[in-house]
Amino acid sequence: MCGIVGAIAQRPVSAILLEGLRRLEYRGYDSAGIAVLEAPCRLNRARTLGKVARLAEAVAERPLPGTLGIAHTRWATHGEPATRNAHPHVCRDRCLVVHNGIIENHEDLRREQTAAGHRFTSETDTEVVVHAVFDQLEAGHPLLDAVRLATRRLRGAYALGVIDTQDPDHLVAARQGSPLVIGVGFGEHFIASDVFALLPVTHRFIFLEEGDIAELTRESVRIWDRDGNLVTRPAKTSAVSVDAAERGEYRHFMLKEIFEQPRAIADTLEGRLVGTRVLPESFGNLAPEIFSRVKAVTLVACGTSYHAALVARYWIEALAGLPCTVEVASEYRYRKQVVPAEALFVTLSQSGETADTLAALRLAKASGFAATLAICNVPESSLVRESDLVLLTHAGPEIGVASTKAFTTQLVALLLMTVALGHENALSDTAEAHVVALLRALPAKVEAVLDLDDRIAALAEVFVDKQHTLFLGRGEQYPIAMEGALKLKEISYIHAEAYPAGELKHGPLALIDEQMPVVAVAPNNALLEKLKSNLEEVRARGGQLYVFADLHVPMVEDEGVTVIRLPETDDLIDPIIFTIPLQLLAYHVAVLKGTDVDQPRNLAKSVTVE
Ligand code: G6P
Repeated sequence: MCGIVGAIAQRPVSAILLEGLRRLEYRGYDSAGIAVLEAPCRLNRARTLGKVARLAEAVAERPLPGTLGIAHTRWATHGEPATRNAHPHVCRDRCLVVHNGIIENHEDLRREQTAAGHRFTSETDTEVVVHAVFDQLEAGHPLLDAVRLATRRLRGAYALGVIDTQDPDHLVAARQGSPLVIGVGFGEHFIASDVFALLPVTHRFIFLEEGDIAELTRESVRIWDRDGNLVTRPAKTSAVSVDAAERGEYRHFMLKEIFEQPRAIADTLEGRLVGTRVLPESFGNLAPEIFSRVKAVTLVACGTSYHAALVARYWIEALAGLPCTVEVASEYRYRKQVVPAEALFVTLSQSGETADTLAALRLAKASGFAATLAICNVPESSLVRESDLVLLTHAGPEIGVASTKAFTTQLVALLLMTVALGHENALSDTAEAHVVALLRALPAKVEAVLDLDDRIAALAEVFVDKQHTLFLGRGEQYPIAMEGALKLKEISYIHAEAYPAGELKHGPLALIDEQMPVVAVAPNNALLEKLKSNLEEVRARGGQLYVFADLHVPMVEDEGVTVIRLPETDDLIDPIIFTIPLQLLAYHVAVLKGTDVDQPRNLAKSVTVE
């Protein structure tokens, strides 16, 4: 999704802005742009299609001097990826805007502004913002008031950075529905879509709230809330290190993040287990009391996080004995739901800024749930701030668009939540102690599975020239098959679908021939024999089977059957263990295909628009 960086300083800002954009690349984008104000009021702007590196080359050729500027990576929503649609947008060389979000009433505003004489140079929804601000500036309002008045006309979501070429001492930012942080420096201030962008220049951040407008000068930051009251928002110090978002020795962030999973899981467990128990207070001080009342659980999320929620349904019903429903946020938010009595509403999100998940949370808060709980990887995210209870996954920054360590740490967090809920319901102390022991041993188990990397890299050769792949699983391995298929399609662009193996006969069997590789997730569990029968059906029709099975699964390699052995584990943590080889498979296929592994085409890391 679009990324914003802005700076007002005493030193030149173009290098800071470009580095900020580079650090936002992971969010996904198709074009980039930068504008810097050269005193007294000369505007220099550069915009390019494609990578930030191209923009940096353009700036190297034609430097942009100046101490006030804004920059942007654009992920196209309205208007194709093209230089003319890249931000910053400008109106009559007077004011400039960068925007993340969607202006829903842009067509009406465009009609009005065209009639009033404005000339549009892009197809973006954003351009109406810059014309609206310009009109207010021309009416004599200072920049802050101009932005305030202009945003009153906007419907939809926005994070904005705005500058006026006739005012070299102010940068104005506004937030409504899309994330924006302010970086606090000495004699300089910054804005950005997230903290990573600004870590090289500051570790102190102010997180704007919905409806806030901020006015930054070199010396001060002033913020007004949606009602126009001057407010104080605390500055917080980020613990994320500057190089946490660096690739190190790894070829791709995704590979680094796959290999970071043992540490990420250990960090997520840290301080949450005492003896043979899960500490319910890990979810917040109110958690023990709330958990004791909970009679049902609703889980809502998007993408990979949704798959984690699907796994958790099996755990919550089996271990905690509570009815559980799971839904993708974009569907949940637009239907009439019946809220069960004393139900806990749980959102899962790596970023904590996914527009649909946030909207679902806000809806849930207004519709009678007993409490809301967020499982999230970003401490200062909107989801965390707006939920009653929170469990942070301590995965560290996840840069690769395809989520890996965020997923497995979400599963760990969900298992912790299941146990904490179960403790108040159907789970015995012995069963709790068993899960806790499994969790403690988990980082080492994951480490052992990562040893399969070479084997899986070799296996990936089989998939490179395939058009389609089918993933099969049963029970809690079905969502893992879904996640395996999602990973493969996201980064290798091979069409991949997942089916619960029992459904094979109801349609997908028709697709099976020698060209269709079928990946099966087959731990040694109660459903193994059923799954094996399903796999025989594939084999009998010439399908090529690639079975991930643990050591004791009685299955022999044969023509058309490749078995990849994983260390023996336990049913409960199998979903986490079996995820790892599927991540590696997708990764190696993508590398062989030569795709942009960390920033696959058309996708964004943080989907902050609907
Ligand atoms: C995007 C990302 C996915 C992610 C999904 C949900 O589609 O590319 O990797 O799973 O958003 O994101 P969230 O931050 O809410 O987990």
